Amino acid sequence: MEAKTEISVQKLEASHLSSLSSLERNCFPGWYWTEEQILSHFESQQGIGIFHKSENFADKILCYVLYLENAWEIEILRIGTDPNYRRKNYASQCLRNLIQENSSKTILLEVDANNSKAIQLYTKHGFQFVDKRKAYYENGNDAHLFMRQGLLQ
Ligand SMILES: CC(C)(COP(=O)(O)OP(=O)(O)OC[C@H]1O[C@@H](n2cnc3c(N)ncnc32)[C@H](O)[C@@H]1OP(=O)(O)O)[C@@H](O)C(=O)NCCC(=O)NCCS
Repeated sequence: MEAKTEISVQKLEASHLSSLSSLERNCFPGWYWTEEQILSHFESQQGIGIFHKSENFADKILCYVLYLENAWEIEILRIGTDPNYRRKNYASQCLRNLIQENSSKTILLEVDANNSKAIQLYTKHGFQFVDKRKAYYENGNDAHLFMRQGLLQ
């Protein structure tokens, strides 16, 4: 009999450190956050993930978003999808959930100007280019600042 599978969006926390850390390494080779950085993020800040539940295996995190939040805005710091599960709308699902749960807040993020996949993802979800930071990244690439205005701003 085929195992039943289920996808859900869940809050991430320090207990997810081990799977999150290996996902982070796969998504950002060369500039990933260390376990210490991830743990320190969860001391005061948030994250959500797409979980793949299966009857036969432990839950697997397919996609994650780590962000800073205050009363007015959210800043996305990390977003990544397991390389084996890309282009299946998981990052979209994560972003949609974040937007719906925080509809009054403005959402901000910085992205490498050469990261066209991520830029297409943000544009698709209503983010607009607002500014550029020249040679912002270690590799000399510019950062582009994108914003999605909250309903009450
Ligand atoms: C960017 C990333 C998060 C997208 O995750 P994903 O789950 O594959 O994205 P989705 O399936 O939800 O794709 C949504 C949209 O993003 C864009 N997109 C995603 N992958 C793309 C690709 N390979 N080429 C072109 N556009 C792409 C498309 O607009 C897509 O919509 P469409 O499928 O209707 O054309 C993923 O590629 C990733 O983890 N990259 C490495 C980490 C990274 O660069 N993070 C962003 C840092 S700012």
